[in-house]
Amino acid sequence: MAFDFDKPIDRSATRSGKWADPELLPLWVADMDFESPPVVQEAIAARAAHNLYGYDRLPENYFPALQGWFKARQGYELKEDWLIATSGVVNALHLAVQALSLPGDEVVIQPPVYHPFPRAILNSGRQLVTSPLRRVESRYEIDFDDLEAKFARRRVKLFILCNPHNPIGKVYSRQELKTIGELALKHGVVVVSDEIHGDLILPGHEFTPFASLGGEHLNNSVIATAPSKTFNLAGLGTSNIFIANPGLRDQFARFGEGLGLHGGSLYGFIACEAAYRAGGPWLDELLAYLQGNAQLVQGFFKAELPEIKADELQGSYLQWVDFSALGLDDEALEALMRERAKLWVSPGIQFGEGGSGFLRLNLATQRSRLQTALERIKAAVRGQ
Ligand SMILES: Cc1ncc(COP(=O)(O)O)c(C=O)c1O
Repeated sequence: MAFDFDKPIDRSATRSGKWADPELLPLWVADMDFESPPVVQEAIAARAAHNLYGYDRLPENYFPALQGWFKARQGYELKEDWLIATSGVVNALHLAVQALSLPGDEVVIQPPVYHPFPRAILNSGRQLVTSPLRRVESRYEIDFDDLEAKFARRRVKLFILCNPHNPIGKVYSRQELKTIGELALKHGVVVVSDEIHGDLILPGHEFTPFASLGGEHLNNSVIATAPSKTFNLAGLGTSNIFIANPGLRDQFARFGEGLGLHGGSLYGFIACEAAYRAGGPWLDELLAYLQGNAQLVQGFFKAELPEIKADELQGSYLQWVDFSALGLDDEALEALMRERAKLWVSPGIQFGEGGSGFLRLNLATQRSRLQTALERIKAAVRGQ
């Protein structure tokens, strides 16, 4: 390995939100305990050394770096005019909801799902409509009859898809995406596809970007991407939104302009360009390391706590684990982790319907820390 993901990193001297409570080992927010790739560090350091931080233009190679990355890693051809930079995907989701629907309109999501989705809808004065994923053994499936019924409602204008799906770690198949796309076209619903975890696909799984469906599907979508999860750049507030349909793009862009927004930041653009231009080898090693962590966690629960079930992790570094066999309510489960195991985890209930009894564990940390976390979970559960 050329990159050392086992290197212990003390983040206590920074203002890391993840590590805000020194008493707890954090496995919650989606931020990794790994340094960003050396190419990113070097690009930022070179710019920082200039000591003057005025208004910069986008790096010349910004779009070519994006285009090269999405072609090589995700298999589709970006066009420059699709691109709108925003200062984060959550920001872009709020913009999309407000630009592409009217107050009182309805927006569909599939819980359990990333908790800012409902916030983006409700904060915007729109109505939330859920089409919960169906749990089948230890996997999730889309209930297409229910999804179609929801899309058919008169005021439903948008659907926010999460692919890979946080918190359950599922990567949707091309067939699932096509069916979603066809139902959306049939009922006049625009698909907003949050693909922020789209580069974090574990070996053995295949990611289908919504844009790669092409044609009418591409024309009916807003694709939200960012280098922030992939390369651990969340603090730099940079995301790239792709909207192929000129009408939708214009609505989205004009709405942002009307709020005086201009996306991204000096260092965000520099980091993004460097990561997409030259971060591939680092990412390949990261993915192998994350797969090792997922195997460790899954193997541990099977061998040591077989009543607790960890789902297969296909994409992202967020492991979904079913603790319902412990028979605890959500508050007691979180308290067990916080007070006995001294772990900061994400309660499943935070992600809405279907999340009760689950915890989401962030595996993007040094393996030795993960091992400590697992031992603490075991001691807390067995010592109950
Ligand atoms: C699905 C999803 N979308 C968006 C975000 C956050 O994106 P940003 O920091 O760019 O707002 C996250 C972070 O965990 C996420 O999991």
